[in-house]
Amino acid sequence: MHLSSRLLFAATSTIACIASAAALNITIEQNVPFAPAKLPAPYAASQCDEIVELFGRLGRTTVWNLVEKVHVEGDTFEPEGIVRIGDDRYFVSAGEYTTPTVKYGNNTIINGTDRTAGSGFAHIIVFDGKGKRIADATLTERGAIEYHNGGIDYDGEFIWATIAQYRPNATATLMRIDPRTLEPTVILHVADHEGGVVHDMRTNKFVMLNWGSRNATTWNSHHKPAPYPSFTTFPDKTRNPSYYVDYQDCKFLGHPKAFNYRGTMICSGVASLSPTVAIGGVALVDMDTMIPVAEVPITMTSDLGVPVTQNPMDVTIVDGRLRFYFMPDQHNSTLYVYEAEPNSPFEYGGGVH
Ligand SMILES: *[C@@H]1O[C@H](CO)[C@@H](O)[C@H](O)[C@H]1NC(C)=O
Ligand SMILES: *[C@@H]1O[C@H](CO)[C@@H](O)[C@H](O)[C@H]1NC(C)=O
Ligand SMILES: *[C@@H]1O[C@H](CO)[C@@H](O)[C@H](O)[C@H]1NC(C)=O
Ligand SMILES: *[C@@H]1O[C@H](CO)[C@@H](O)[C@H](O)[C@H]1NC(C)=O
Ligand SMILES: *[C@@H]1O[C@H](CO)[C@@H](O)[C@H](O)[C@H]1NC(C)=O
Ligand SMILES: *[C@@H]1O[C@H](CO)[C@@H](O)[C@H](O)[C@H]1NC(C)=O
Repeated sequence: MHLSSRLLFAATSTIACIASAAALNITIEQNVPFAPAKLPAPYAASQCDEIVELFGRLGRTTVWNLVEKVHVEGDTFEPEGIVRIGDDRYFVSAGEYTTPTVKYGNNTIINGTDRTAGSGFAHIIVFDGKGKRIADATLTERGAIEYHNGGIDYDGEFIWATIAQYRPNATATLMRIDPRTLEPTVILHVADHEGGVVHDMRTNKFVMLNWGSRNATTWNSHHKPAPYPSFTTFPDKTRNPSYYVDYQDCKFLGHPKAFNYRGTMICSGVASLSPTVAIGGVALVDMDTMIPVAEVPITMTSDLGVPVTQNPMDVTIVDGRLRFYFMPDQHNSTLYVYEAEPNSPFEYGGGVH
């Protein structure tokens, strides 16, 4: 049994004179608060130095113990990002595709991109710790061409998201979402696809990653954005030098001592190297240069055969152990919680001699 009610209201922007591209339609499944009344600190950023230290002990021979598997209720569309807010709430960004995109024939590029816009809805779905659905909100209007809600970050106050056209080199809108109300606020418009965002809470910079995380675009929030829907212009993009995996979901960690106090994020992702070879991995990444400062492969797959790092990832430390939260499958999703075994065998070098 669940209480189901529907609210519909246009999101009002707290930034004056912005024509909002956001529209909020919430389906409530449980009559409980979406988020804890006193919003907790983000896990990743409050455990930065410990995460960096434990990450530094990972390797190719790390044993990953599955400590929890939570099947989540209802259609999850394509989950893209996850943040845990407190111990009993998961917020999952997802894209619902009502009209699929279609590749132009013959590798044709039109207006800088390679496929039609399609249509759909950007979602944020709230689950409790047992995977029971609390609410499912669409954040975009019917017919909007920006409907792909990518990797997300949480800074203790807001969830940050980029809602983009579902095609490379197109457009995206940086939004913040209030976890207590799910209300989206438009911040700025970008003339590129952005598939995820990370908020450096110390410098107040936002790093957005484009299609395949090939380039990073940084917005320093001390710079005033252009009024929506005009595009904000940015200084040069930072090319991602790593082709190991394409990052899908990242979290701000902090400015760890071990990395000379440089802004660092933790990212997970996948790469298809051929029709039959897919690899997954997690990395600590320098937010200014996009250089990975540590990276390890992750080979686990879901029960449905999808690499666990396919999309959403969050991280925390429990009882001194590094713990990852993954939700790889589309539509019918399961949250996989893995811990790195601290007594994993230590491997010298590469394993090939
Ligand atoms: C709001 O969402 C519900 C559930 O997905 C849907 O049935 C309804 O049509 C939506 N309302 C509008 C105005 O889009
Ligand atoms: C694709 O290119 C080939 C060779 O140039 C041409 O024969 C064909 O008509 C093209 N198809 C489309 C859909 O443009
Ligand atoms: C390309 O962009 C122009 C100008 O915005 C627009 O009129 C045209 O419809 C676009 N073409 C396609 C195929 O989307
Ligand atoms: C993106 O599109 C623009 C035109 O809209 C084009 O000039 C540019 O080369 C494209 N960039 C990439 C990486 O495809
Ligand atoms: C990345 O950014 C550089 C510099 O702006 C640009 O030349 C390149 O086309 C971009 N590549 C992609 C894939 O976005
Ligand atoms: C949902 O996924 C689980 C595995 O995670 C699988 O056992 C089950 O059959 C799936 N259900 C449907 C309806 O596909």
